[in-house]
This record gives sequence, structure tokens and C-alpha cells, in this order.
Amino acid sequence: MLVLAIKGSPRKKGNTDYLLGLFMAEARKRGWETEVIDAVKENFEPCIGCGNCERTGFCSIKDTMPERFFSPLRRADVVVVSVPTYFYAVPARIKGLMDRTQTLWSRKYLFKIKDAGHDHRKGVLLAAAATHGRDLFDGIKLNVKYFLDAAGAAFEENLCYRGIDSRGAMERHPTVHGDVALLAQRVLSPFEQRRTWVFACRENAGRSQMAAAFARFLAGDRIEVISAGSAPGEKVNPLVVAAMAEKGIDLAFLKPVPLGDILEKCSPHLLVTMGCGQECPLVPGCRVVDWDLPDPAAMDLDGVRALGNEIEKRVNALVKDFSAAAVE
Ligand SMILES: Cc1cc2nc3c(=O)[nH]c(=O)nc-3n(C[C@H](O)[C@H](O)[C@H](O)COP(=O)(O)O)c2cc1C
Repeated sequence: MLVLAIKGSPRKKGNTDYLLGLFMAEARKRGWETEVIDAVKENFEPCIGCGNCERTGFCSIKDTMPERFFSPLRRADVVVVSVPTYFYAVPARIKGLMDRTQTLWSRKYLFKIKDAGHDHRKGVLLAAAATHGRDLFDGIKLNVKYFLDAAGAAFEENLCYRGIDSRGAMERHPTVHGDVALLAQRVLSPFEQRRTWVFACRENAGRSQMAAAFARFLAGDRIEVISAGSAPGEKVNPLVVAAMAEKGIDLAFLKPVPLGDILEKCSPHLLVTMGCGQECPLVPGCRVVDWDLPDPAAMDLDGVRALGNEIEKRVNALVKDFSAAAVE
């Protein structure tokens, strides 16, 4: 379970940083992994409107954006945006990051491919402003709502404080601790009820990525789905990405991860192994299923498509069994 936060205030130890710190501390207390992207420090180049992402699905600006933002985003269950109000809008650096998300907008709306967590991921806004006007947060809420939509998250909740200006004002707010604890409870607790399934293969570049994507797509609100490899490769196999895109599922920007790291962090209820051989570990108390499926590394696109269909069938059956057992 990952909460990914995007921090937008240029002020050191500012009010919205304090708010975000409280939320992330609540998440960690509840056993979540947390990651923060500081939009000011990252200093990404803003969108230049060249249209490259609309033609190719990728940004023409070559920087760390895909690795720093898109990769963790695709793993996240919850995305938090924390921002001060600057002229009824968000500060410039975080707006630059948001605009670069046009790449994901293009993939979703023009190429019609969505990442597998899209329908289950939740978004939260934390904001502060000095004044008290009724419409104070209208612009920010609209901006964040549509940014989250492109990023593949539903704008679920917000906590916006008026009359907060000098440094330390947020800390002195009489109800902020309780407000944040309740918000964290509402947003995070539904995810905490899920079972955990891990799909593992050797490189985490093909089979386990496809299986995890199907499972997440079908049941991500009921199952925490993780994929990993016993000897992780550099990147997801491009033919696997292409075959899944034909099914409307976007695997771009995902990165192979080591199985050992995953099993250190979580205790899965189900482990599906696909050719990780001797290196596939035994996990106490966990149901292990082994699927004898070929490695797509040497396959052409037709071969990968057929493998994808087979994996989809097997994942469908797993989810169906799980749903039936849950009803019984
Ligand atoms: C450039 C700038 C523009 C601002 N514009 C607004 C505004 O339009 N409305 C408002 O109520 N507060 C405005 N503020 C005040 C901040 O929103 C407020 O001080 C907030 O608490 C800062 O949060 P931070 O400490 O997390 O940066 C502005 C502050 C700055 C520096």
C-alpha cells in the first residue's frame, strides 16, 4: 500500500508541509509505505505544448519525470496533493508538474489506455490560504480534480483551511490533528481490508506484470496486487507493453522490482509463481500456486498476445473463485 504525495509549497517548513507531514505520519502509523515528490526541488521543465505526447504517447522532454513521478504513481493506491494558495491557484512549480501529466491524459483519452489501478486509486487535496473568501479554493479544487483524473485517481476528499498565513499557523490550528486523523481513516481504511496477492516471475518484465495488471484491473478494490521478479530485468518487455495496450491496459512507466524486497515488506495471502524456479521462496501461511507458462522474452508479438490471453483467463478464474468464496 503506497501513499504518493506531491508537495507544492516553496516555503520551508510551511503550513501545507505541516499538514502533509501529519497525513503521512498517520499513513505510516497504519502500516503504509509513503513517498513524497517535492515539486519545487525536482524542478521539472514545464510542458511546452509541442503535441508530442498526443502523437506518440510520450513526452518530448527527456528528464527524470517518468521515473520520479509516473513510476511510483502507477504503484500508488492514494495520491495526495499539498498546496498553498497562490493567487487563487497552485504555485508555479507544482503546476509545471501537473501540466507534464498531459502525457498520461493523452494515453488515457487519445490512445484509450488506462493503467490498471486507475479505477481504484484515490486522490486527496490538502490546502491552505490566508484569506476567507467563499470561492477561495474553487480554482485549486478544479485544477487538482482534473490533474488527478489524468493521473488515474478519483478526487475523493479535501482538507482546505482558510485564515492560515504566517509560518506555524497550521500547527496552532485547534482541530488539525483530529481532522487529519479522521481524513486518513476515511481514505485509507478501505484499502487496508484487502487481501494481498503477489505475482512473481524471473524478470518481472512480462508474465507477472501482465497477471498483476489483469488482477488489479478486475479486483484492485478488494485485492492488493503486487508483481515482482526473482532476478528483475531493466524494464518491462516492450512487446508485453504493446500487447497489453491492445487490451486497453497501460503498462508503460512500470519498473521491475525484486521479489525479496516485496516479501520483506508484506505477507501475501496468495503467491502465484511463473517460472522463477528455485529462487521462488516458500512463504509461511501463504497459498502458493505455480503456473507453468513460457517466458515471453524470445517471443514475437503474436506469441505475447497468446500468452496474455492465457494469463487473462487464469487471472479471471482466480478472481472469480475469490469473489465466490467471499460471497459464501
Ligand atoms: C505568491 C503568493 C500568493 C498568495 N496568494 C494568496 C491568495 O490568492 N489568497 C490567499 O488567501 N492567500 C494567498 N497567499 C497566502 C498563502 O496561501 C498562505 O500564506 C499559506 O498559508 C502558505 O502556505 P505554505 O506555508 O504551505 O506555503 C499567497 C502567498 C504568496 C506567497
